[in-house]
Parts: sequence; structure tokens; C-alpha cells
Amino acid sequence: MRSSPICTLGTPHRDLIIGHLLALDSDARVLRFGCRVSDDRVRQYVGELDFGRDAIFGVADRPRSLGALVHLAFPPSTDTPGGVVEFGVSVLLALRGQGLGSRLFEHAVVHARNRGMKRMVIHMARDNAAMRAIVRSAGAAMAFDGPDVIAELPLPADTLGSQMQEWFGHQTVLLRGPANGWPAFERPAFGHSVR
Ligand SMILES: CC(C)(COP(=O)(O)OP(=O)(O)OC[C@H]1O[C@@H](n2cnc3c(N)ncnc32)[C@H](O)[C@@H]1OP(=O)(O)O)[C@@H](O)C(=O)NCCC(=O)NCCS
Repeated sequence: MRSSPICTLGTPHRDLIIGHLLALDSDARVLRFGCRVSDDRVRQYVGELDFGRDAIFGVADRPRSLGALVHLAFPPSTDTPGGVVEFGVSVLLALRGQGLGSRLFEHAVVHARNRGMKRMVIHMARDNAAMRAIVRSAGAAMAFDGPDVIAELPLPADTLGSQMQEWFGHQTVLLRGPANGWPAFERPAFGHSVR
């Protein structure tokens, strides 16, 4: 097993993010975005990411390659404080089933709590068994709408413990494979975004 940090990504990582999303096959892109998404639309989506408002987390699987990506979309700063944050995630096929999606979800929940969010929403397909398992384990309520599911997870207020958890105790994942030559992104000090 090898250990890899969950890194906060910023503007310098746009090409890595594009590379990760383009590496998803068409079915995975549908699961991630809820519809068919062309390569150009992926590039546009990444070009429009607001790293100042949102939180984008990644895990490297090889040098200059992201094996997993999380986008936590925060409400505009003009909204009432303590709003709703939206979670989206993707894990490359070869890395699925190792607990990576679950660990990233836990990490995102702690981060959202610590930024004062009160609820997290997750849109997914009804047949997305892995994502449904993740939100079910977290205790999210699921509303079914035809082929879609919207999960909603109430977030407790942050505590000293949740802040410490994010900064010190919660930032690596274990992946199968050799530890040699393990890549690292610029690791943000105390969770600040790399921009
Ligand atoms: C959803 C996704 C992120 C899960 O990532 P992952 O790293 O494979 O997830 P984990 O290994 O942490 O597994 C999470 C849970 O799903 C279960 N699971 C994993 N693959 C499964 C499968 N194919 N069928 C049923 N359950 C599955 C695991 O057993 C685990 O459940 P448990 O906690 O009760 O044991 C990944 O499948 C993915 O990237 N899919 C495409 C994009 C997507 O669907 N995004 C979600 C919508 S935003």
C-alpha cells in the first residue's frame, strides 16, 4: 500500500484536472455530471472553476496525474451564511473499490463543516450503487426523482476537533501499489488553497 495526500488544488492544476476528467469514460462522465459531456465541455467546466470560492481536492496516482477529484461547490458569498454546498466526485476506474471515494467524501464533509455550511447535497443516478453506498453510510436522506437521486446530508457545526481533524489528522488515503516514486503536489500549509 502507499499513502497519498489529499491535496487542495488551485489554478496551476487546471491541466491536471482536465486530464483526470478526460480520462473518465463516457459512462463515468454521465455519472459525474448527470449528462453526456464532450471533451470541450469538460475543458470549459474546468476553465470556469472558481478556486477562490469552491474547494477542489485531488489525489495523485502517478506523477502529474490525478486519480481522484472532488469539487465542492460553495454558494456565492452574497448568499445567507451557512448555506448548502454541493459535492461532486470522480475516481479513475483502476482505483475504485479501495475506499478512496469514501475517504474523499469524509474529507469534504469535514471541510464543509469547517467553512460553516449547514447541508451538503449530492446529485447522482439511481443506479449509482457506489455513490449511494457512500451517502447512505454517512446518514444522508435520499429523495428519488425518476432515474435521479438527490441526497442531502445535514452538517453539524464545526468544532475544535473538526478543525484539528482537517489540518492534522485527515489528509491521506491509502492506495494499492508500490510506494516508490510517489508524486506529491505542492501541499497546502494548513489547508489553504494553492492558487
Ligand atoms: C462513485 C465513486 C466516486 C466511488 O468511488 P470508490 O473509490 O470506488 O468508492 P469506495 O471504494 O469508497 O466505495 C464506496 C462504497 O461503495 C461500494 N461500492 C463500490 N463499488 C461498488 C459497485 N460497483 N457496486 C456496489 N457498491 C459498490 C463499496 O462497497 C463502498 O460501500 P461500503 O462503504 O458500504 O463498503 C466512483 O465509482 C466514481 O468515480 N464513479 C463515477 C463518477 C460518479 O459516479 N460520481 C458520483 C456523482 S457526483
